[in-house]
Amino acid sequence: MKGLKIISTGSAIPSRNVTNDDLAQVVETNDEWIFTRTGIHSRYFCNEEESTLTLATDAARKAIENSGINKDDIGCIICATLSGDYASPSLSCMVQACLSLPQDIPVLDVNAACSGFLYGLEVCRGMLNATEGKYGLVIGAEQLSRILDMQDRSTCVLFGDGAGAVIVEAAQDAYYDSVLGAKGGKQILINGIGNKAQYIEMDGKEVFKFAVDALPKCIRKLQEKQTFTLDDIDHVICHQANSRIIDHCIKKLKADPDKFYKNMDHFGNTSAASIPLALAEMDEKNMIKSGDKLLLIGFGGGLTWAGTLITKE
Ligand SMILES: CC(C)(COP(=O)(O)OP(=O)(O)OC[C@H]1O[C@@H](n2cnc3c(N)ncnc32)[C@H](O)[C@@H]1OP(=O)(O)O)[C@@H](O)C(=O)NCCC(=O)NCCS
Repeated sequence: MKGLKIISTGSAIPSRNVTNDDLAQVVETNDEWIFTRTGIHSRYFCNEEESTLTLATDAARKAIENSGINKDDIGCIICATLSGDYASPSLSCMVQACLSLPQDIPVLDVNAACSGFLYGLEVCRGMLNATEGKYGLVIGAEQLSRILDMQDRSTCVLFGDGAGAVIVEAAQDAYYDSVLGAKGGKQILINGIGNKAQYIEMDGKEVFKFAVDALPKCIRKLQEKQTFTLDDIDHVICHQANSRIIDHCIKKLKADPDKFYKNMDHFGNTSAASIPLALAEMDEKNMIKSGDKLLLIGFGGGLTWAGTLITKE
């Protein structure tokens, strides 16, 4: 079975920047409380013209432009999201329509909450292998601001909106592997269609405990499949929920903190968008060299977890 390599990245950031001080005007909180517990200073919220769809489409357009491939060669479109504009059509089908992407290909959404982008990569890999497609478009996009209870200070300060996208190529020689799992649980809960208010509810302490276990577990499980140590990895890109979760893992693994990318200070937790947003940001800063080994780790609602080894061409 062919693996995947990243050909290009793209991102879309909403226009409304919201600082912790801005939120302190809405709920009883302050920058010091939020920053010391989460590492978050600010996040972006969509304005009235923006949505998960506009962000996903913009990020995908940029990833396609940056790839240099012909968009007609895209063999599969996967969006990871829990906040698509519609329950149906899927976000993927809407991006397909907005960008006039090919029609005779698999097009679907994946919901694995904050692990969704890594689940999406693995679904894309399966689809490309099954259909002998060459390139896949994988997007992580969220407009979490529309499901935030702005009276609940324990959740509304944590999340933000954004989108990231990658073009991947299925290749026999790719340095790629992936581990996926889930525990089953409602510790992060958003009601379904027609069910009461659709706000993010969360047991923060339980989620924190889950996350600090999940992160090293993903690495351990990948090491059961592939021979590597963290010394072999150029960048570790974890889901950007909370800097304390990543710091905890760095300490537990006695790892080099410089390998762990963090950008939650200016994006907050953007769920499925956080890993592709980080990839795109690092790419823009020329931090990723061709052939660099990347270790991606997701964890979140579900309770899902995922680890991926991949390179960028
Ligand atoms: C959410 C989180 C930051 C809360 O931190 P915590 O230290 O567990 O805080 P607690 O929930 O114990 O609350 C401590 C106090 O701060 C208060 N508090 C909660 N949110 C607050 C806010 N935004 N500003 C100020 N005070 C706040 C609480 O009401 C509580 O007050 P009390 O002691 O008077 O009852 C932390 O649990 C966490 O990071 N969890 C993981 C969340 C996460 O990353 N989720 C996504 C994973 S994908």
